[in-house]
Amino acid sequence: MKFFIDTANLAQIKEAQELGVLDGVTTNPSLMAKEGITGRNNILKHYVDICNIVDGDVSAEVISTDLKGMIKEGEELAELHEQIVVKVPMIKDGIKAIKYFTDKGIRTNCTLVFSCGQALLAAKAGATYVSPFIGRLDDISTDGLNLISEIRHIYDNYDFETQILAASVRHTMHVIDCAKLGADVMTGPLSAIEGLLKHPLTDSGLAKFLEDYQKGN
Ligand code: E4P
Repeated sequence: MKFFIDTANLAQIKEAQELGVLDGVTTNPSLMAKEGITGRNNILKHYVDICNIVDGDVSAEVISTDLKGMIKEGEELAELHEQIVVKVPMIKDGIKAIKYFTDKGIRTNCTLVFSCGQALLAAKAGATYVSPFIGRLDDISTDGLNLISEIRHIYDNYDFETQILAASVRHTMHVIDCAKLGADVMTGPLSAIEGLLKHPLTDSGLAKFLEDYQKGN
């Protein structure tokens, strides 16, 4: 399973990259605003800065909601850097835009996916990635992980090449469960990735090894 980090914070992206397990980055307009990145030019520059830190794919989201606007924005984003994947919302014109980008060889991430039907449409349109938001489903007492499992089943039935990018991952157990269910990618905060490191038996075992080494020296 690929690990993407879901942030526009350059320090966190660097930290995850230095860990050596990072495969890409996802951003969204809220994450950009959280870092105080505003204005079209600053946002575009920030995407390039992210691409220069990480080796893998970087999702950059369009703001337009009409086909013409999404195509214009998406083409501009794709021109920025070869690592850019154009993030398009799951709406009617979004599906048309994904089909257009697919035909032009521009990679896409279909975002804000909350149902199997939406995931099926995204795959039919040729999306590179589909992003089911599992944390937001959990937030409304709906089983987000079950959606990952159902999309996996549907995609495997037809050998769809669209990769399941489990999004809105909030914690370490989400990461582990996504891996069990066969998500191709997960995107989450740095804390969810670093949480995988932790086990009290590792800490106590290491402390004992070091203590015994000191005794013999
Ligand atoms: C996906 O690409 C989104 O950026 C993201 O995962 C949303 O997560 P949230 O529900 O924690 O905001």
